[in-house]
Amino acid sequence: MDMIQAIRNRRSIRKYKDQRIEKDKLDLILEAGLFAPNPGGRQGTKIIILDDRELIDTIGIVNANCENRNWGVGVSKEQPSIIDDKSIKSGFYGCPALAIVCVPRSGKQYVNQIGAAFVCAQNITLEAYDLGIGSCIVGRAEATFAQPGMQEYLDAWGLDPNYMPLVFVCLGYTDGPYPTVKPRNEGRSLYVGSQK
Ligand SMILES: Cc1cc2nc3c(=O)[nH]c(=O)nc-3n(C[C@H](O)[C@H](O)[C@H](O)COP(=O)(O)O)c2cc1C
Repeated sequence: MDMIQAIRNRRSIRKYKDQRIEKDKLDLILEAGLFAPNPGGRQGTKIIILDDRELIDTIGIVNANCENRNWGVGVSKEQPSIIDDKSIKSGFYGCPALAIVCVPRSGKQYVNQIGAAFVCAQNITLEAYDLGIGSCIVGRAEATFAQPGMQEYLDAWGLDPNYMPLVFVCLGYTDGPYPTVKPRNEGRSLYVGSQK
C-alpha cells in the first residue's frame, strides 16, 4: 500500500464487528510495533497482544471510568468516543483484540519512553490499516492498571514487574461506514529552504 495514502486515510475506529482477527494478522501487527524506532536502540518497550474479547471488555470498563470523562469536547460524530457518548461502557469500544504497549516503570516519566510507546502504537495502527483492520489509540493505561486488582492481570500474563502499560491500541474489523478523512488545520507547517 502507498504509505502516504495509508497515513492520510487511517482513522480512529470505535465501532467494531464481532469478528476475531486472524492470528497471522495479529503477528504482523505485533511485529510492526516491535520494529518501531526506539531511544538509544535499546528496544525498551514490551507489547502485549490481548486476544480475548471478554477480558478486553472487563478491562475496558475500568479504563472508561478511571479518569474524568466529562471533558465537554466533541471528539467525533462518526465514531463517538467515551467522551461524546456516555452510554459507551468500555473504553476499548468492544474491540476483539487489544495491543498494550509497556515501558520500564523507572523511565515512565521520560519523554523518550513515552515517545517510544507511542511510536510503537503508531506503527501498530498503520500496519492494521494496511491489513484492512481498524484501530484506535487509547490512553489512561497507567491509571487503568493502578485500579484495585488490575496489577494481577499483568502478573498473570507474565509481564516483567519492572514494566508498566503506557498506551493501548484497540484492534478490530470496522463496523459500518468508514469515517471520512478530516481536512488538516491551516497554519501547522513551515518550510525553511530554497525549493519552490
Ligand atoms: C495520545 C493519544 C491518546 C488518545 N486517547 C484516546 C482515548 O483515550 N480514547 C479514544 O477514543 N481515542 C483516543 N485517541 C484517538 C484520538 O481521539 C484521534 O486520533 C483523534 O480524534 C483524531 O482522529 P483520527 O485518528 O481519526 O484522525 C488518542 C490519540 C492519541 C494520539
